[in-house]
Amino acid sequence: MNNSTNCRSQQDWRSEFPVTETYVYMNHAGVAPLSRRVQDVMAGFLEDATVNGAVNAKLWEEEAEACRSVAAQLINADVTEVAFMKNTTQGILIAANGIDWRAGDNVVTTEVEFPANVYPWWSLKERYGVQTRMVPEQAGRICIEDVATAIDERTRAVTISHVEFASGFRNDIQALGEICRERDIWFIVDAIQSLGAIEVDVQSCNVDILAADGHKWMLAPEGAAIFYCADEKREQLVNTNVGWASVVNPRDFLNYDLTQKPDATRFEEGSYNSVGLYGLKAAIELLLDIGISTIEAHILELTGHLIEGLEAKGYRVITPPTNSERAGIVIFESDRITPTEIYEMLLADNIITAERGSGVRVSPHFYNTTSEIERLLEVLPDL
Ligand SMILES: Cc1ncc(COP(=O)(O)O)c(C=O)c1O
Repeated sequence: MNNSTNCRSQQDWRSEFPVTETYVYMNHAGVAPLSRRVQDVMAGFLEDATVNGAVNAKLWEEEAEACRSVAAQLINADVTEVAFMKNTTQGILIAANGIDWRAGDNVVTTEVEFPANVYPWWSLKERYGVQTRMVPEQAGRICIEDVATAIDERTRAVTISHVEFASGFRNDIQALGEICRERDIWFIVDAIQSLGAIEVDVQSCNVDILAADGHKWMLAPEGAAIFYCADEKREQLVNTNVGWASVVNPRDFLNYDLTQKPDATRFEEGSYNSVGLYGLKAAIELLLDIGISTIEAHILELTGHLIEGLEAKGYRVITPPTNSERAGIVIFESDRITPTEIYEMLLADNIITAERGSGVRVSPHFYNTTSEIERLLEVLPDL
């Protein structure tokens, strides 16, 4: 990372993360630690709610709208296209359940999605006779040609993770978005493993729907998620998440009128996770202050260095090595040492990673340093 970003050094940004005092924390693909500024705003909200009840609820609403604005900026969307959800899965469910399926339709996804992007689609089989086509990986990658081949005249949607959780492979959502646009099919992206780590531009990638919870690369608390539905697709998506907050006059409680709001907030069914949105806003502001392109470059440098070091020591790296094919996740394995042994060896040195399948997943963020990567490599025995 540049020594000086917006006049602040990496050390300054790093000092916002108390976790760095104890750990080499490299599990952002699991659950991220919070920064001090996120903790502070959430503590401020809790104090207010404790001392004043909901007397200042107007401020909470204003903060939620400010959060929507920075969330829209983060993905290059309009505020009218962003709704808040409790997690990624809720957003994917709204997409899966809202398409006007006909028996015999199909949806194309991959064989290596996190279940959040599998079960909502599988559950359509019984209800509507919708088939889920699962494209297999080849050498840790999803090939665009395989996705294109799986699409036929009955395909109504392609749904995919921007970055795959179990390999770290970065799907080319620009190319996939073009394919979907050409064939006039829905393009849905699970962005929880990319948003906050690398550039995500819903417009240039023709994304119709995107969902991502805050607790990984956005460095926000759990339970405060972003849902995006493109303005031009909103009317085509049947809203299966209608609640009191979805309608034009939500606070005219007994004057029942089901006219839905004209923007993406129609997909918000009820009260907000206000404390979560305070945290999410502060977390996104931190990312935007640093700049996503700066963050992406630093993460790619760290993960590139890690891959080289692991290979030099004789470990098998599952994650593709080229910058354009990966983001913040590196997964590696060994025939000689089990993932549990590796994970525990690192944990004993306060280096936080995660076991995933036959490997260990390392996922550093912008405040991690090259010397932390070196420290991880030093702990691992040569094979
Ligand atoms: C690709 C992917 N999607 C979704 C999730 C989680 O979904 P949710 O936010 O609904 O808990 C994870 C990890 O927890 C993930 O890796």
